[in-house]
Amino acid sequence: MKKNITILPGDGIGPEVMNQAVKVIKAVNSLFDHDFKLDEALMGAVSIDATGEAITSETLEQCEKSDAILLGAIGDPKYDNDPTLKVRPEQGLLKLRKTLALFSNIRPISTYEILKEVSPLKNQLLENVDLVIYRELTGGIYFGEKTLSEDKNTATDLCSYTSHEISRIAYQAFEAAASRRKKLTLVDKANVLETSRLWRRVVQDISAEYPDVEVDYMFVDNAAMQVMLNPSSFDVILTENMFGDIISDLASVITGSLGMLASASVGNKAAMFEPIHGSYPQAKGLDIANPMATILSVAMMYDHFKLTEEAELIRNGVKWAIEHKIVTKDIAGDSEAHACSKVGDMIACFIDEQGVMEMKNDSIKMSQNCII
Ligand code: IPM
Ligand code: MG
Repeated sequence: MKKNITILPGDGIGPEVMNQAVKVIKAVNSLFDHDFKLDEALMGAVSIDATGEAITSETLEQCEKSDAILLGAIGDPKYDNDPTLKVRPEQGLLKLRKTLALFSNIRPISTYEILKEVSPLKNQLLENVDLVIYRELTGGIYFGEKTLSEDKNTATDLCSYTSHEISRIAYQAFEAAASRRKKLTLVDKANVLETSRLWRRVVQDISAEYPDVEVDYMFVDNAAMQVMLNPSSFDVILTENMFGDIISDLASVITGSLGMLASASVGNKAAMFEPIHGSYPQAKGLDIANPMATILSVAMMYDHFKLTEEAELIRNGVKWAIEHKIVTKDIAGDSEAHACSKVGDMIACFIDEQGVMEMKNDSIKMSQNCII
């Protein structure tokens, strides 16, 4: 299969984790004989430094023409603490989401047996956790009109939704629920917000078309608590942009590390794949960041191309690395932590070996099992 992929390594640890994702893509493509053209472009603080803009129109155009976009991470502390700045790295990401109409952000959350020890939640809460968040990504308070009064003492952010914006992602979430455990939870604040009441109405209407899917309505404050207290009770969570942003970081605690969570943002054209974590500036250049979220995002990209065998091999590679404790500091627990690049090398190696790889203890250190 031939594909054009735009790679946006971005800021902080973005380039380091992206390097590992590229190793994995190359290993998969050589095994399955695919031909992906990988073109790098700038977005975020690196783009501001180079061009003055968080994303240039050339990069946007390149992304629009691609079959998929892979993103590392966005954000740099030098832009965080000055609220008067006009140009910020995150604007690049928001513009890209909006321009490509990537309205549906899909964030799966599951647990790995061996990582249960690193989750701060009690182990019995982690049994059978397998949920997926459908977060609306191009509407709501993120994109509504923003104002700041002349005296700079009053500010507003408008939260607006149309029934069209709600129904297009709701259908995706219902389809997902229908093919999973048949439960959908709409997370909102319908006791206070008019937009949330619109979400309820649209979702109620659509639910008539999916009689097999049980629909639950939950206020976001309660949902925040339930996701921690009873994570296995969720199957598909459907929610608006900002609630989804918050709930998904919260839900990442279940897995044990934000460094494990992948995501896909899809619309009608190109799709984008990115780890949920941020740019982790403290770790930049240290080769300690967890590349698994980015590698699992690559698996979601292969799934999107309907290359499910390839996607499964990547996921098996991640599982295998975890089971053999070839993991970075965030999930190493009491065992030795490995470098980001080592984790990438070993997962690529596992793929080269077509998923059949015997590990001797010292070969982890040497990466002896394959030529890298
Ligand atoms: C995310 C991030 C972004 C968001 C930021 C970087 C703008 O937190 O993808 O969850 O809030 O959507
Ligand atoms: Mg977020």
